[in-house]
Amino acid sequence: MNSFAELIKNRRSTRKFTDQLLTPEQVESLLKAGLMAPASKRKNPWHFIVVEDKEMLSRLAACKEHGASFIEGAALAIVVLASVMESDVWIEDASVASIYMQLQAEDLGLGSCWCQIRSRVTADETDSNDYVRRLLNIPYQLDVLSIIAFGYKDQERKPFDEAHLQWEKVHIGSFQMGEE
Ligand SMILES: Cc1cc2nc3c(=O)[nH]c(=O)nc-3n(C[C@H](O)[C@H](O)[C@H](O)COP(=O)(O)O)c2cc1C
Repeated sequence: MNSFAELIKNRRSTRKFTDQLLTPEQVESLLKAGLMAPASKRKNPWHFIVVEDKEMLSRLAACKEHGASFIEGAALAIVVLASVMESDVWIEDASVASIYMQLQAEDLGLGSCWCQIRSRVTADETDSNDYVRRLLNIPYQLDVLSIIAFGYKDQERKPFDEAHLQWEKVHIGSFQMGEE
């Protein structure tokens, strides 16, 4: 991989991971990417919880009925949370940090997948944010945006096919309705 354009084309969500653990250097690189992410007014309202414990990964995988089971097989999960009291745009800030870490993972040859927590519920309709909060002792002033799962890829994904680029969503000069 030799360019940013290649990297973003090759980054596809990985939901199957091998058992191989990450090195402390790899984990540090991922965290540095999150900590270097731009944030509005440089308020840095986010916190990152690093989870490698197998039992905790398996509990986190139950944070939603669908779309979270891959966390159980990951080598690492980074829980991304932020404080609405520190920034009115905490969702944007935590989202940017989440994707920065996913792009860093791809650059390290690792797979990753975003698990959405904000506005989601568990199988018994508990708010997923509260479920994760209780598991990880998160104080009330912080909310969980996402859990990003990382690990070595155990599945082949094709790079993004540029034939699927939705150029019709790009409008030149002003919004154009329904023109194909
Ligand atoms: C905001 C956001 C929330 C997402 N939530 C989930 C999720 O909860 N579970 C999941 O399996 N994938 C989740 N994804 C991954 C998307 O499903 C995936 O990025 C999309 O289908 C495009 O596929 P690709 O990442 O392989 O290119 C999420 C991605 C984003 C950006």
